[in-house]
Amino acid sequence: MPENPRRRLDAALAHEIEVWRSADPGPDADGRALARLLVRLVRHVGRHALPAPLLDGLAGVAQRHRGRDPFLDDFLDAVLARHHDRFHNASYLALPLIARVLDDPGSGLDPERLSALLLADVVRHERHHPDRTDPVVGRKRVRHAARFVSAVDRALADDVAPPATRAGEWLALSVLPVSTEHDEYFFIRALQAHEMVFTTLTTLLRLATEAVRAGRSDDATVLVRRAGTVFARASLLFRLVATLRAAAFHTFREHTDGASAIQSEAYKRFELACGEPGRARLDSEAFAGVPAVRAEADGHDSLARAVADLPGDPPTGLAAAVADLEAAHRRWKTTHHSLAVRMLGDAPGSGYTAGVPYLAACRDHRLVATRNAAA
Ligand code: HEM
Repeated sequence: MPENPRRRLDAALAHEIEVWRSADPGPDADGRALARLLVRLVRHVGRHALPAPLLDGLAGVAQRHRGRDPFLDDFLDAVLARHHDRFHNASYLALPLIARVLDDPGSGLDPERLSALLLADVVRHERHHPDRTDPVVGRKRVRHAARFVSAVDRALADDVAPPATRAGEWLALSVLPVSTEHDEYFFIRALQAHEMVFTTLTTLLRLATEAVRAGRSDDATVLVRRAGTVFARASLLFRLVATLRAAAFHTFREHTDGASAIQSEAYKRFELACGEPGRARLDSEAFAGVPAVRAEADGHDSLARAVADLPGDPPTGLAAAVADLEAAHRRWKTTHHSLAVRMLGDAPGSGYTAGVPYLAACRDHRLVATRNAAA
């Protein structure tokens, strides 16, 4: 951004914060206007480089006006996470803001539809800001993102727009890169979509568990088969992320320390919906970063438990669907491991595990297993 536009942006931001500084900012104060200016600055300098006086001003706004606009609260919590020493996966990806968009009754979204909107946004972003370093890779990225959108719903255009609601506007403000690397935008959207995929999977697995308990094995089989189809989208996300340049990854990961998908509550809830992770896994670093989910683990129901409680062997159709889901998960872990080998090498993970060795050790972990059988 040339110097004058930058100066104008700084001045507009200073003015907006001044409006919000008042005890009663009045009808002129619109959280979206403040957020739009901040997003412009963040995309220009990276979240890690926001000046300290600006962060102090925003912290004042966040504290004084909490509750006035819950979308703004979530947005500012993400922007201020490092400033407040609370930088984790959820704040890196602005997940509370995404969850609020999802919950908005006027927008009519569910996790699947939202996952498609997130990837459609990648398509739009890459078309508006083409990858100048490597256009071939850029086009490949667009193809993978578009494939994800049509995997959710063939009828969706690959640039389907968010709903024309207030929540839809906030969705456009939910990418807050720590760096100015082109590649970080789609990386953030891919990880947000990952949360939506695993939220969808958890719902399907819980419904399948209820069906088994109610003696409706055929329904359970259909639901687990559907979970297998949705799981394939998690693999599509890895193909997309494989277009990430290692150099770009290394630049932005300098500022993402402490934020890792190991803290993904959606992924760990999916694990619990499938089965009973062994005591060793529950007490390991895998669950240390998700205390709320860890607290749900003791005595929880799961598909594995419901199947184990059946009087005889599970029907063959259900057993086959479970085996396919398990195999898809194993392939997913293998792809993740290879990606990490390529991107990370010997470096530790941003979630403070040993990195690749952690992922290698997780490869044998089975999903749909009761405690005695789990790794
Ligand atoms: C540059 C690409 C990536 C690298 C280098 C990478 C690396 C890692 C590492 C080292 C861990 C272990 C925890 C830690 O210390 O951080 C991890 C965990 C995890 N990652 Fe990734 N990852 C990448 C991309 C992704 C993507 C795109 C997704 C999802 C779409 C994802 C999902 C997960 C999940 C769910 C875990 C937790 C696994 C568990 O606890 O068993 N990762 N990743």
